[in-house]
Amino acid sequence: MDIRVLRPSDIPLIQHANIENLPENYFLKYYLYHALSWPQLSYVAVDVSRPRKTPYDYPKIVGYVLAKMEEEPADGVQHGHITSLSVMRTHRRLGIAEKLMRQSQLAMVETFGAHYVSLHVRVSNNAAIHLYRDTLGFKTEKTEAKYYADGEDAYCMKLELSFIRESLHEGPRAIVAADKDDAEKAKGDDEDGAAAEAGEDVDEGEAVGDVGRDPDAKKSAPKKKKEEVKIKVGRGLGVGELVEKNEAKHS
Ligand code: ACO
Repeated sequence: MDIRVLRPSDIPLIQHANIENLPENYFLKYYLYHALSWPQLSYVAVDVSRPRKTPYDYPKIVGYVLAKMEEEPADGVQHGHITSLSVMRTHRRLGIAEKLMRQSQLAMVETFGAHYVSLHVRVSNNAAIHLYRDTLGFKTEKTEAKYYADGEDAYCMKLELSFIRESLHEGPRAIVAADKDDAEKAKGDDEDGAAAEAGEDVDEGEAVGDVGRDPDAKKSAPKKKKEEVKIKVGRGLGVGELVEKNEAKHS
């Protein structure tokens, strides 16, 4: 399963999923408005195990979260809003909705500095209420009477996102120690760079092919030991603050 950001080309598929799963449906342009105004906030779950028979085969989208930032917040506090969330029946209870929600919440904080996220849910929707309240930690702010077109009430729910803001702020400090070695290495790399600028002979690594080489020289020349190159992954690339904070603290 691949959880990735929503692309405009996914919109017909998520509109289809929405019609399948929920009575609250929207015009295509409303999806487009989300995708173009806040492209970082909406995500889809794609079943990548499905074989693609032709290049024109659409990806199988099995879930989506459609989210936005509140443009004119009544309380003056910058916050996000979940417009719609659903997962196809065939793929429920696999943790997909939780992952979609967490991705969107993270992007709300990272990209727009959201302080909280809000949503409405039918008072009878036990599955969604369990997800929001028990799994994700949303609190019910109030009940809005007859919020839905069929007269059902809605819970207006809200989740403070300070825990994400804090983890993002702590991140760089937490990875400083763990990244000390990498920093030393990076310093070395910088020194190499300075040497190159000064016109000194810096090893750029061996050529890969044989083009332009004397085939006899290749046989007689002593074999040069292959140089090991240290590459940066994970924390070294700066993603550690998001996904490896705890691990870094323990190590
Ligand atoms: N009954 C009780 N608990 C449930 C149910 C259920 N039917 N379905 C999921 N849960 C629980 C899971 O057990 C899990 O709890 P845990 O963390 O304690 O293990 C938690 O909810 C999250 O489960 P996920 O597997 O992430 O949820 P799933 O991918 O199945 O999607 C969803 C849940 C989106 C509510 C799905 O059932 C659905 O699409 N329903 C129809 C559409 C809908 O109601 N959408 C929400 C409308 S509100 C809005 O859009 C803002």
